[in-house]
Amino acid sequence: MKRALRKTPGQYNSKKMEQEGTLSLTGKVILITGASRGIGASAAKRMARSGASVVINYHLRRDRALEVLQEVEREGGRGMVFQADVTEIKQVEEMGGAIGKKFGSVDVLVNNAYFPFEVNPIHQISLEGLKEAMDRELSALHNCTRVFLPGMLERKKGKFIIISSRVAQQPLPRLGAYAAAKAALEAMANTMAIELGPLGVTVNVVNPALTLTDASAIMPEEFRERVRKTRPLQKHLYPEDIAGTISFLASDDADMMTGTHILVTGGSHLQL
Ligand SMILES: NC(=O)c1ccc[n+]([C@@H]2O[C@H](COP(=O)([O-])OP(=O)(O)OC[C@H]3O[C@@H](n4cnc5c(N)ncnc54)[C@H](OP(=O)(O)O)[C@@H]3O)[C@@H](O)[C@H]2O)c1
Repeated sequence: MKRALRKTPGQYNSKKMEQEGTLSLTGKVILITGASRGIGASAAKRMARSGASVVINYHLRRDRALEVLQEVEREGGRGMVFQADVTEIKQVEEMGGAIGKKFGSVDVLVNNAYFPFEVNPIHQISLEGLKEAMDRELSALHNCTRVFLPGMLERKKGKFIIISSRVAQQPLPRLGAYAAAKAALEAMANTMAIELGPLGVTVNVVNPALTLTDASAIMPEEFRERVRKTRPLQKHLYPEDIAGTISFLASDDADMMTGTHILVTGGSHLQL
C-alpha cells in the first residue's frame, strides 16, 4: 500500500504560510452591499484585513460608511465607499462604473443589504407589504448579478455570497414577509449555483441566526435574551461572528464550494 507523502517540518516555510493564512484575499476586489453598518461593515473590515480591496456600499448613512473606510485605511487596507440603492438598476450600474475605474472588475459580490419589512402575522400583512419584501430581496440580487456577473464570466471566475437568514427555514411568528423573501432569495441562489458552476462562478448562502445589529433591534430585549439563553452556545451572535464565514467563502479555500448553505447560529437551529 502506498504511504501518504509527508513533509518533514523543515520543508514548510512557516512565515509564508502565516502570511498566506492572514492575507488570503490579496488581490481580490470585493463588493459588500449594505456595508455601512452591522454584518456588512464587519465583513468589509475583516476582508480588507485579509488583503482585499473592499467596496463599502451604503444607502443613506454616508457617515457610517466613511467610518468603515477610515478603519480599513487605518489598518493599511484599501477601500472605497459608494452610495447606491441596490434595488435600483441604474444606481447599481453607476456603482459598477465607479468600481471599474478605481479597482477594476469585482471578484466577489457579498449580497448583504438589509431591507426593513412589514412585521405582522401572514393573514394581516398587506399584499403590498409581502410583495415589497420579495421585490427588494430579489431585485437587489438580480441587479447586482446583471451588473457584476459579466466581468466574472469574462475571467471564468467569481463568487457570489448571499446573506439569507435562518428564518428562511425556521420561521418565527410575524416575520413571514421576511422569511418568504429570504426563502425566495435562496431558491434564486441555488438556481444560480447550478447555472453558473460550469462557467466558473460559485454561489453560496450564509444563514445567520439572530445577530445583534440595528436590524435586530426591532426584537424586544427579552426575546433576544431568551434566544441567547436557549441556543447551545448561550452567547449572543455579533456581526464579527458572521464576518469570518463570509471571509472564508470569499477565499480560494472555498473554491470547490457552491450551492452550500452555512448556518451560523450558535446551535440555535437545533430544536431544544
Ligand atoms: N441581524 C440579524 O439578526 C440578521 C439575522 C439573519 C440575517 N441577517 C441578514 O444579514 C444582512 C445584514 O443585516 P444587518 O443586521 O447587518 O443590517 P443592518 O445593521 O441594519 O445594516 C443594514 C445595511 O443595509 C444597507 N441598506 C439598506 N437599504 C439599502 C439599499 N436599498 N441599498 C443598499 N444598501 C442598503 C444599510 O445602509 P445605510 O446604513 O446607508 O442605511 C446598512 O448598511 C441582511 O441581509 C439581513 O437580512 C441579519
